[in-house]
Amino acid sequence: MTEFSTAAQPISPQQHDVEDTLVETVLASFGNADDERLKFLMRSLTGHLHAFIREVRLTEDEWHTAIEFLTAAGEITDEKRQEFILLSDVLGASAQCIAVNNQAYKGATEATVFGPFFVENAPRIELGGDIAGGASGQPCLVEGTVTDTEGLPVPGARIEVWEADDQGYYDVQYADGKVFGRAQLFSDANGEFRFWGLTPTPYPIPHDGPVGMLLEAVGRSPVRAAHLHFMVSAEGLRTLVTHIFVRGDELLDRDSVFGVKQSLVKEFIEHPPGTPTPDGRDLGNRAWSQTRFDIVLAPSGT
Ligand code: BEZ
Ligand code: FE
Repeated sequence: MTEFSTAAQPISPQQHDVEDTLVETVLASFGNADDERLKFLMRSLTGHLHAFIREVRLTEDEWHTAIEFLTAAGEITDEKRQEFILLSDVLGASAQCIAVNNQAYKGATEATVFGPFFVENAPRIELGGDIAGGASGQPCLVEGTVTDTEGLPVPGARIEVWEADDQGYYDVQYADGKVFGRAQLFSDANGEFRFWGLTPTPYPIPHDGPVGMLLEAVGRSPVRAAHLHFMVSAEGLRTLVTHIFVRGDELLDRDSVFGVKQSLVKEFIEHPPGTPTPDGRDLGNRAWSQTRFDIVLAPSGT
């Protein structure tokens, strides 16, 4: 069996001094930065990095492997594929950054990860319209309200929604350039909204690159709990980036990017084929589902 150690190994006082002196020299090297925030960030980052290297007694082989990993992440990254966002996501860094920057405020809806599949200027639909755009999947009626934390309706909130088809792919992952599974709509005078989408299904994050290899090496699955993405923005209110998840989904407690929050898990009521829809939509002989998402936006600057 390969010998390895996870415990700190004793080092001599002289060696300790050598390592300490290097850290101090490196931290001092940022002293001329005009930007105080940058100076602070670089000192903290390098301080933690050196502490990590020293704590785990990182071998040179391990450091080279890490550099090769980052190089491979850079090589696979292009306009459509962002391996560094995936890395941030699977390390929980995206979720932590969101937690730090979207602190709980009264009853405001919780934020979660953005993911790499948002597209600006998605097709505009009217209330009650269909975001599916021909994508395969079970129709799902989504209804809700947008209010502020005082309970007042927010008319005219921009609601951008996007989701994968039931094959587990977003439109931008196909080569045909078709747009589906995404739209923008606006809440009405009462802050209400409704649209047809697809019942969310689980799918893996892209895992054919270095991040996928890392997940495999540590015995983790790339699959995300089924979800539907939202970005909701309105004048004077904090923009909310979030998802809703499906109650009962067995992946809720092992989402590959740590995006699940209990408050975002919603009941999706299943209706058998032939059940009339509230808006009289003709779904032929298809089953459909229905859910509700009442969105509460915090004030800007909170
Ligand atoms: C997504 O939900 O679309 C997603 C989030 C993080 C990484 C990859 C995909
Ligand atoms: Fe997603």
